[in-house]
Amino acid sequence: LKTIHRIEDLVYEPGISVGFVPTMGAFHEGHLSLMRTAKQENDVCVVSLFVNPTQFGPKEDFSRYPRDLERDRRLAGEAGADILFAPDVATMYPDGFATKISVSGVTERWEGALRPGHFDGVATVVNRLFGIVRPHCAYFGLKDLQQCRVIDRMVRDLNMPVALMFLETYREQDGLAMSSRNVYLTPEERKIAPLLFETLRVSRQAVRDGYPVDQVLDQARSRLRDAGFLVDYFEHVLLDDLRPIDHLERPTALIVAAKLGIPRLLDNIVI
Ligand code: PAF
Repeated sequence: LKTIHRIEDLVYEPGISVGFVPTMGAFHEGHLSLMRTAKQENDVCVVSLFVNPTQFGPKEDFSRYPRDLERDRRLAGEAGADILFAPDVATMYPDGFATKISVSGVTERWEGALRPGHFDGVATVVNRLFGIVRPHCAYFGLKDLQQCRVIDRMVRDLNMPVALMFLETYREQDGLAMSSRNVYLTPEERKIAPLLFETLRVSRQAVRDGYPVDQVLDQARSRLRDAGFLVDYFEHVLLDDLRPIDHLERPTALIVAAKLGIPRLLDNIVI
């Protein structure tokens, strides 16, 4: 694995296909499975590691976001990554950097509403990373479903020459979606956390069985609150643009964001 920090060092042999996994580090099995797939499907697997300040709100965890370059480097190498691109902030946002990518519509609700500016930060950095890395395929985890929809919209609207691959959420044995922020859970909270996915599964079954969606969502929210979650949303949405929907028109998904102690956990399930 070659680690590089400067844009001009990112050079490829002519004619090779580049698979790209953009990350903010603190790797877990979810990231590593994206890297393995990128390597299987392309000649070269490039991973970027950049904790992007512009996608964090002023009260969010940018400064304490978990960082461990040595560990990440080892894990990425074991997963088959060929190049780890780890730029600093001045490389990604040099003096005078003035462009912002803003995707409307799909960003209006959920994470977009609760974290103003978050998706502008994501779209802008992903756009810049695509320009730097020039991937043929880029890999993202479906745990961040809204992020996937935003990037998909951007790539289609701007005719970017990259194929997007959205891969299934990687889960712990007990169903908890893997996330770098899971390390903030206390042992007690860690035992409660799988209830998030369990509630998604039970609710999906209830929706499929024909129970009124509103009732299913109310029950899900109460169940999570009773267990100690602070629920930001638990909703039934169209998969395509994440608009709320109260009847079963496929394809839809249940999406949830809830705080448990320090971390906010996100998850979703396709109906
Ligand atoms: O999902 C993430 O880790 C980040 O949002 C991304 C896509 C690397 C952009 O900073």
